[in-house]
Amino acid sequence: MRMVDIIIKKRDGHELSDEEIRFFVKGYVDGSIPEYQASAFNMAVLFKGMTNKEISTLTDAMEHSGATMDLSRITGVKVDKHSTGGVGDKTSLVLGPMVAACGAMLAKMSGRGLGHTGGTLDKLESIPGMNISVSEEDFIKQVNEIGIAIIGQTQSLVPADKKLYALRDVTGTVESIPLIASSVMSKKLASGSDTILLDVTFGEGAFMKNIDSARVLARTMVDIGNSLGRDTRAVLSDMNEPLGFAVGNALEVKEAIEALHGRGPKDLMELCYTCGAIMLEQAKIVNSHEEGLEMLRLAISEGKAFDKFVAFVKAQGGDVEYILHPEKFELAKHIVSVISEKEGYISKINALEIGESAMRLGAGRATLNDTIDMASGIVLTKKVGDYVNKGDVLCYIHTNKDEYQSIIKDILNAYIFKKEEVETHPVVHEIVR
Ligand code: URA
Repeated sequence: MRMVDIIIKKRDGHELSDEEIRFFVKGYVDGSIPEYQASAFNMAVLFKGMTNKEISTLTDAMEHSGATMDLSRITGVKVDKHSTGGVGDKTSLVLGPMVAACGAMLAKMSGRGLGHTGGTLDKLESIPGMNISVSEEDFIKQVNEIGIAIIGQTQSLVPADKKLYALRDVTGTVESIPLIASSVMSKKLASGSDTILLDVTFGEGAFMKNIDSARVLARTMVDIGNSLGRDTRAVLSDMNEPLGFAVGNALEVKEAIEALHGRGPKDLMELCYTCGAIMLEQAKIVNSHEEGLEMLRLAISEGKAFDKFVAFVKAQGGDVEYILHPEKFELAKHIVSVISEKEGYISKINALEIGESAMRLGAGRATLNDTIDMASGIVLTKKVGDYVNKGDVLCYIHTNKDEYQSIIKDILNAYIFKKEEVETHPVVHEIVR
C-alpha cells in the first residue's frame, strides 16, 4: 500500500477502505508517513469529506493509536463532557463541581487553549499549586473519593491526535467535520468514561461558524459514541458573544467561583444547568431533565457545588485560600476601561475578536510554546441586548503589557450597535441525542 495512492483516492472523492485509513494512522504515528503526505491527506479530507463509515474507522484507529484508560475501578457511572471550544468558556469549572455535588462521577481529561480559545487546564493552573499531571492511580482514587478530577491528557493517550492536531493547526485543516469529530471522539473514547456530553459551539468564536454545520458535527459525534455503546448526547450552544463576562485564566476562575456561589452570569448558568441536567440523566441519578435542574439548583443554593470545588482544588494540590478569598489572585499591572464611542443596543460582540485580543493581552498562546500571563484578559461589563451610551464602559482590559492601545481599537471594533432593541436568544439552541 502506498500513501500517495490513498491521498489521490481521497482527492478524487472516493471512499477509503478500513485498511487504507488504518495504514495512514499507524504510519503517521510511527513516522513512516511524512508530515507532507499527512498534510495533503488532511486537505483532501477537508475538501472531499468522509462517509460515516470512514469517520468511525478513523476514530477507532486514532483511539487505539496509544494507551486507553480503564476506569472500571471507579464505582458508579463515569460521566464526561467536552466542548469544541469557545471564548470565556469556563463551563467545566462550574458544571464539574455541580454534577459531582449531585453524585455524578466526573473523570475528565482536558486540553490547553490555543489561539483565541481558552483551555480548562490553563484556567486551573492559574490557581497556585494546582497539579494537573496526576497519575492514573491517583486520578481513579480521587474520583472515587470526591467524585471529580480534571487532569491533563497523559502523553500516551491518543498520540495520533496530538500529532494530527498540531499539523492541522498550521495547515489550515482544523475546520473539517470528519477531522474534528475523530479528534474529539477518539480522545473521549480513550479516556474511558461511560457517558459523553458534547458542547458543540457555533458562531464567530467557534470552529463551526453556523448552526447547520454544528448540527452535522454533533450528529456525527453522537452517532459514533452511541454506536460504540457510550451514551453520547450533545448541545448546540451559541458562541456569537463570549460566554459570561470574563475572558482570561484567573479572571475566569474568579467568575466560576462567583457562579458557584449562585452569582453567575445568565448565559453561563443556563449552559451549566442544561448540560448538568443531561449529565445527571445520563448517570441515571435523575429520571427527568426537570428533576436534574432542581437537584442542580439545590447544589448551588445549599453551597454543595462550591464545597465540591474546594475539595477538588485541595485534592489536586491547589491553594484553597484563593478559592475562599478570590481577592488574593494577583491583579495585572494595568486595568484599563474601554469606553464606547457609539450608542445603541449591542447586537454583537465578536467572540473571535475578543478571544484574539485577550490572547494578545497575554491570556493565550499563539503557538504551543508561548507562556500565559494568568492575570491578563478582558472583563465585559455589557452583553448583547444591553443599551449603551457614548462614554459608557464596555469592558476592562487587564494586562501586564505596556503597549495595549491598538488592542483597545480592535476590541472596540468587536462591538456592533443597533438603534432598535435587539432580541436575545438562549445560549443552548438544541439538544442532540
Ligand atoms: N477540539 C478537539 O479536541 N479537536 C478538534 O479538532 C477541534 C476541537
